[in-house]
Amino acid sequence: MDYQEFIEKKIKEIKDLVGSEKAINALSGGVDSSAVTVLGHRAIGDQLRTVFIDTGVMREKEPDNVINIFKGLGIKVELIDAQDEFFKAFKGIEDPEEKRKAFRNTFYTVLGRAVKESKAHYLLQGTIAADIVETKGGIKTQHNVLDQIGIDSQSYGFKVIEPLKELYKDGVREVAKKLGLPEESYQRMPFPGPGLSCRVIGEVTRERVEIVRKAGSIVEEELKGLQPFLVAAILLNDRATGVIDGKRAFGDIICVRSVESKDAMTAEVTEVPWETLRRIEKRITSGLPSVTKVLYDLSPKPPSTIEYI
Ligand code: XMP
Repeated sequence: MDYQEFIEKKIKEIKDLVGSEKAINALSGGVDSSAVTVLGHRAIGDQLRTVFIDTGVMREKEPDNVINIFKGLGIKVELIDAQDEFFKAFKGIEDPEEKRKAFRNTFYTVLGRAVKESKAHYLLQGTIAADIVETKGGIKTQHNVLDQIGIDSQSYGFKVIEPLKELYKDGVREVAKKLGLPEESYQRMPFPGPGLSCRVIGEVTRERVEIVRKAGSIVEEELKGLQPFLVAAILLNDRATGVIDGKRAFGDIICVRSVESKDAMTAEVTEVPWETLRRIEKRITSGLPSVTKVLYDLSPKPPSTIEYI
């Protein structure tokens, strides 16, 4: 595919569709929403309002990092702090699909309010081909797939424009690179829209999110030299007996996930050196006193998926 041609075609499409109206987009910092943000601003400039919704389930320092990257590109990003709303929506939910639905509903409610406020008619969104294929295939409902599964996006008060929906992750990276995004953006590890809520099995509470946030940044730091497609720490909804300070403790279990993939449709497990795995275990159990067990996940996709829910 000629990605330069693709970019020009999409800029024209966005311009023609939006006309003199206003549009909004939610940036998460992932490569998909980052590419859409730049495409949108190239197409319609100030008619596009870009917001970053702090869902409370982002990685360590994510809101500041993302806003700063875009500042460097001359694009203003507004922060909407919706953490309380998301944690309220997650309360008492353990079922994975229910959790995804709670996230989606809160996300579009918050976004719908911003759309109304700014009198926008369009939502520019970074949905990619894999999101649609997996949602329609019934594997998991990705948070950003609406009309394709019969959810009328206009019920949230906007029309959706999805300029990347024909591309897979590797294609989006090419587009993002050509759009002039920095390497830390176009080579960024994929991070699911529902964020760390996909990595907390069972109820998503502030405390439990904090555990995967801390464990996740240890794992990212230790494995970044291997340049895997994605690394993650997952908190299981089970416990294991351990010994802390000479006393029995029935503690948390963290799974470490690291995979290699091109398009996220299939994935192989990263061959991590034993020494690195041991260091990860030490850092997690000494930094997080509630954790008594650390596991390394050996499952490729298929039969597993990359994330845990
Ligand atoms: P799975 O777990 O389905 O993940 O093998 C495939 C890729 O998609 C990411 N992912 C999501 N991305 N919204 C997104 O934008 C979502 O709801 C979502 N769920 C999974 C996942 O991180 C992986 O890169």
